[in-house]
Amino acid sequence: MTGWVTVAGLGPGNMRLVTPEVTQALAEATDVVGYIPYVARIAPRDGLTLHATDNRVELTRARHALDMAAAGGRVVVVSSGDPGVFAMASALFEALTPGETPDLRILPGITAMLAAAARIGAPLGHDFCAINLSDNLKPWALVERRLRLAAQADFAMAFYNPRSASRPHQFARALEVLREECGAARLISFARAVSTPDETTSTTTLGEATADMADMRTVVIVGNSATRRIGPWVYTPRGVE
Ligand SMILES: C[S@@+](CC[C@H](N)C(=O)[O-])C[C@H]1O[C@@H](n2cnc3c(N)ncnc32)[C@H](O)[C@@H]1O
Repeated sequence: MTGWVTVAGLGPGNMRLVTPEVTQALAEATDVVGYIPYVARIAPRDGLTLHATDNRVELTRARHALDMAAAGGRVVVVSSGDPGVFAMASALFEALTPGETPDLRILPGITAMLAAAARIGAPLGHDFCAINLSDNLKPWALVERRLRLAAQADFAMAFYNPRSASRPHQFARALEVLREECGAARLISFARAVSTPDETTSTTTLGEATADMADMRTVVIVGNSATRRIGPWVYTPRGVE
C-alpha cells in the first residue's frame, strides 16, 4: 500500500468552517497527528488512530508523520486555521531528509486573522501584514523591528500569538511601540476564540488598549491610518488618496 501525508488546516474552531477537501482527507486517513487541542476536534472512528502531542514538538511530530506515511499510512497532520500560517506545513518541509520525496499535500484552511476580520468588518481591506509576536523561533529584537517597520509603512497588521503566560510583558512592549509609531487614536481590535462558543470581539484605540485584552486564543488586528468605524463595524478603505 502507498502511504501519503496531508497537512490540513481545520479553520478557527467551528467545524462548519472546515473545507470539504479537508473533511475528505480526514475520512480517508488511517492516522491523524497534531497538537492535543487540534486532534481533540477529530471524531474517533474505527480504523483511525489519533496521535496527539504537546506543543513545541513540531519537528518530532512531522518526522513521525513522514515515517508513518513511508510505512504505508494515510496520515493527516492537523493545524488550526491554515497549516501554512505559523503552523505545521513548514515544519513538515523542515523535517524532510535530503532526497526524501513523500506523497505530500497541503490543504488550506481559514486562518484566524481572516475569520476575525470578517467578524470585525473589513479591517484588512487594504495592504496588510501578519506578524507572529512569539519569540520562540526568532529573537524579540526582530519582532520589535518588524512591528516598527510595518507600522511606519502604514500596513494594517494582524498579530498571532500575542501574549502567553511565559512572556507576559512582550505584548505590553508591542503596544508601546505601536503607540509611538501610530499614535493613540489608531484602532485596535481583539478577536478571541473566533467561531467557538467562547468567542469575543472588541475594538478600542491604542491609547485605551491594555495588554490584558489579549491572550493566546486572541488574534489582534491594528488598522492603518485610514481605518475607521462605521456603526458597529471597522473597515479599512481599499485605496489611498
Ligand atoms: C500557532 S498560531 C496558529 C495559527 C493558525 N495556523 C491559523 O492559521 O490561524 C496560534 C495563534 O493563532 C491565533 N488563533 C488561532 N485560532 C484562533 C481563533 N479561533 N480566534 C482567534 N485567534 C486564533 C491566536 O493568535 C493563536 O495564538
